[in-house]
Amino acid sequence: MKLKLATAAFVSAAVALTPLSSEDYTSKIKDCPGYAVDSAQTEHTTNGLKAHLQLAGDACNAFGEDVQNLTLEATYETKERLHVKIYDQEEKHFQVPEDIFERPQFEENEALKNSSDLQFDYTEAPFAFWITRRSNGQVLFDTRLSEIPSYSEPFDANDTSASVSVMPNHNLIFEPQYIQLSSALPQQANIYGLGEAVTPHYRRNSSYTRQTNWSNDEGTPRNTNIYGSHPFYIENRVKDGKSFNHGVLLLSSNGLETWLRDGVFQQRIIGGVLDYYFLSGGEGENKPADVIRNYSEVVGKPYLPPYWTLGFHMTRWGYENDSDFESILNDMRDAGIPQESAFMDIDFMLAYRDWTVDQNRFSRLREIVDKLHERGQKFVPIHDNAIPITRNESDAYDFYTSGHEQDVFIKNQNGTEYIGQVWPGYTVFPDPYAENATKWWTESFQKFHDEIPFDSIWLDMTEPASFNSGSLNGMGPLAQYQPSEVTSWPEGYNNTISGNSGNITIDGDLTYKQQSQQSPSRRQMLSRRMGTLETVDNDLEKLTFPPYQIHLGTPEEFFTLGHDTVSANATHENGFDEYDVHNLNGHMVAKMTRDALDTIYGGNRSMIIARSNFVGMGTFSQHWLGDNYSTWMSMRDSIKGLFQFSAFQMPFVGADACGFGGNTDEELCTRWMMLASLTPFYRNHNTHGAIPQEPYRWDSTANATKTAINTRYQLLPYMYSTLYKQSVDGTPVMRPLFYEFPTHSELLDWDDQFLVGDHLLVSPALFPNVTQVDAYFPGDEPYYDWYSHQKVNVTDEHSSVTLDAGLTDLNVHLRGGAFMLLHSEPGMTVTETTETPFNALVTLSKDKKAEGQYYFDDGFSQFNETVTCVMFNVSAEGMQSRVEMNNYDIGQPLNRVDIIGWDGEPPKSVMNGDAQVEFNYDADSQTLSLHSLNHMLNESMDITFD
Ligand SMILES: *[C@@H]1O[C@H](CO)[C@@H](O)[C@H](O)[C@H]1NC(C)=O
Ligand SMILES: *[C@@H]1O[C@H](CO)[C@@H](O)[C@H](O)[C@H]1NC(C)=O
Ligand SMILES: *[C@@H]1O[C@H](CO)[C@@H](O)[C@H](O)[C@H]1NC(C)=O
Ligand SMILES: *[C@@H]1O[C@H](CO)[C@@H](O)[C@H](O)[C@H]1NC(C)=O
Ligand SMILES: *[C@@H]1O[C@H](CO)[C@@H](O)[C@H](O)[C@H]1NC(C)=O
Repeated sequence: MKLKLATAAFVSAAVALTPLSSEDYTSKIKDCPGYAVDSAQTEHTTNGLKAHLQLAGDACNAFGEDVQNLTLEATYETKERLHVKIYDQEEKHFQVPEDIFERPQFEENEALKNSSDLQFDYTEAPFAFWITRRSNGQVLFDTRLSEIPSYSEPFDANDTSASVSVMPNHNLIFEPQYIQLSSALPQQANIYGLGEAVTPHYRRNSSYTRQTNWSNDEGTPRNTNIYGSHPFYIENRVKDGKSFNHGVLLLSSNGLETWLRDGVFQQRIIGGVLDYYFLSGGEGENKPADVIRNYSEVVGKPYLPPYWTLGFHMTRWGYENDSDFESILNDMRDAGIPQESAFMDIDFMLAYRDWTVDQNRFSRLREIVDKLHERGQKFVPIHDNAIPITRNESDAYDFYTSGHEQDVFIKNQNGTEYIGQVWPGYTVFPDPYAENATKWWTESFQKFHDEIPFDSIWLDMTEPASFNSGSLNGMGPLAQYQPSEVTSWPEGYNNTISGNSGNITIDGDLTYKQQSQQSPSRRQMLSRRMGTLETVDNDLEKLTFPPYQIHLGTPEEFFTLGHDTVSANATHENGFDEYDVHNLNGHMVAKMTRDALDTIYGGNRSMIIARSNFVGMGTFSQHWLGDNYSTWMSMRDSIKGLFQFSAFQMPFVGADACGFGGNTDEELCTRWMMLASLTPFYRNHNTHGAIPQEPYRWDSTANATKTAINTRYQLLPYMYSTLYKQSVDGTPVMRPLFYEFPTHSELLDWDDQFLVGDHLLVSPALFPNVTQVDAYFPGDEPYYDWYSHQKVNVTDEHSSVTLDAGLTDLNVHLRGGAFMLLHSEPGMTVTETTETPFNALVTLSKDKKAEGQYYFDDGFSQFNETVTCVMFNVSAEGMQSRVEMNNYDIGQPLNRVDIIGWDGEPPKSVMNGDAQVEFNYDADSQTLSLHSLNHMLNESMDITFD
């Protein structure tokens, strides 16, 4: 939790924008001369070239001094990957270090210069480069001025409004605090990614996008910087009815902006270097998933959390005490709704201090956690990034004292500890670069685990969030947190008329009212929590107020770098300025947490649901989409967030179902509990003071949730294997339909449906007061309803089909060709569920075939250590399985198989080797069912239909 919306205790005031001092720079971007190659110094390296660039004219000093000499390296790393790096020759500018981001390995191979999918060309004077897809001649990235449209609006560095995106000059600019690079784009370019961002569409607006990356604790505002930073995009280009996809990563942890304007792509970075990876997605026609797999070779494959984490998790902020908490756990059980884990927000802490338990209100927490464990459930507490300092001489907080002694906190330039303010009052911030930080962090978690044996960690406020700008002095008071009243409701719900129950009807009258449609203004909801408590250090203005101010926050509110975070001039033990590594903080703190949990669990897997994130963080951490709202818009937005994170190789992500901020209502909560049930991380979470939204609170929500969880738990082998596959080869779990059908123009901007893996298509209801949804069923394979097994009647694959969607119905379809291995009897926990035999549901393709690949392991040991992989194949002739890496004993047999779409004569006999298999055929539903197979999955299977 934590949000901008509930913050009564702290004074609010907007941070004033300090006037730019104009002495050191001209801000005259138009005068920047660009660079030229000194050809005498160009070196041909084995895999590419290295060249020397010199400033091509008089320095413009737009936002600092132009760097005279640059080095360019272009390296063909693989057939599908080109690395282009431009950096200051003296290598003084910050570069993301190897030990933080391990660079992808590649082999020396001279031949790639002529055989790579991506061809690098450049002109010497003025220097410009372009990258061509060799197989079809398309230019994918192009910095030549002649190719980039110019816009002639005057440049205004002070402009804070969203209505201006000026592109005055496309020469390369390279200064210590301003780097600019532009590339030509096709009109109406199909660009996806550039996260972390809450966006109305997964496809970014190519006429009008300004996406900033600067980690910020802000309750999911749209189209601006939020918690994480992944300056990566996928572009889909359709030519002659074929789709070609490529990807571009700018590996930078500095604050930056990416602008899209008709025909132009531009990045402005306030430090560091240009470090690009271009990915071809493979030769010839390809799909977005090919690019995403390429990307996994750069940023690493995702960490697979334990099997139990796929269960349903529940929490809220605002448990009063242990009895309150316990009664909700019991109510869930009494309602018969499976709950895999209880997460807990900051309520349990003593004075909001990490690693403590308030013994007045939560003295029985240990007992409750033990009880959860006895029932096979888990406990996942929150952990906040900031560490409170003691508030006076008699105050004791050992975790601060031990950290202070070991010198593990972020510092001011003068060497004192940097002091900010978070929930517990005055705080310091862990310095992940300090020699002893990981050790101290691990020991602290270990002590807490001895007291409360938690099963995973929810890691919050890692941006790092701080409620004031600049470093404070001395010891502060304890924070007095008074939650503000929660007054907002989903669109169309008016509690003045319908009361605070949030029901869908009152005596049969719908509470949703189109006329009174409320769309709570974002501004109103995001009431500022904090203002400046003390002003920022002005003598280090260059870091805190860089000459070029990247656009932070929303257009109405223009923030400075230090807004609600640690000041950019704070320093780390190894000499890093916060200015350069701010966007890495969440990544580094999660990494320390990974080390701590690995120690505690002896190397067994665990989950870290972390907030701030960076390129490559999926290799050890998971994420939730942050402080969303109980609105239909927020629910719709969550789908795009899930697409982003699967593309960023961090697929184990989810949104808080029913919405976090604001009050929910029955209809929204019911729809959301269903939608979220088929996303990787499934959790319901709620803010302090909002009406309760546990799924048992309304009958419709309870019923819909039970059905949804039952489906999810049956599908766990599929969900887990889909996640497993991404961890092995980078294939994205969550996919918009266009990933599979990238030439279908009607799907390029369509994110109202999602695929999980290859075969599971979800078409949720996303608007209030509807009983139908429009859904596409593209391609020439049949689609079958998960519940009824009915085939969808599709007359035109490019037109949508209207489906019924009653309040408690979620439309789930299987594409033809699926072998869905299922747990036959979902239980109250994931473990109970796994202790039942398997069934399978098979949907035949148009060629009467189906297949599936499943991974099995114990669900908690180190990844890929003891795994069994089984490939299933079905055709009109029979059903086979092939076992690979047979290292884990699956334990449960496959008993029943239902094959749907069997539209011919049924077989006369079904033989498993020499043994007859019991079967029956239902002509109405065209289903061939095999019974009592009792097939142990570690053995291969060969069943014939005669
Ligand atoms: C930006 O605003 C400041 C203060 O209002 C002003 O002095 C300065 O001239 C402006 N700069 C530009 C480039 O417009
Ligand atoms: C840039 O490189 C040129 C040629 O190598 C050299 O003469 C010059 O001193 C360099 N300038 C700077 C500022 O390093
Ligand atoms: C880290 O801890 C060791 C042992 O306590 C200590 O000797 C050393 O000075 C600490 N390092 C720093 C940078 O404080
Ligand atoms: C060090 O810097 C911080 C932040 O600017 C300031 O609050 C503090 O007073 C300074 N301490 C000393 C000893 O100079
Ligand atoms: C809610 O209903 C009340 C009573 O009819 C009305 O005065 C108010 O304007 C409505 N609020 C909204 C946001 O529509």
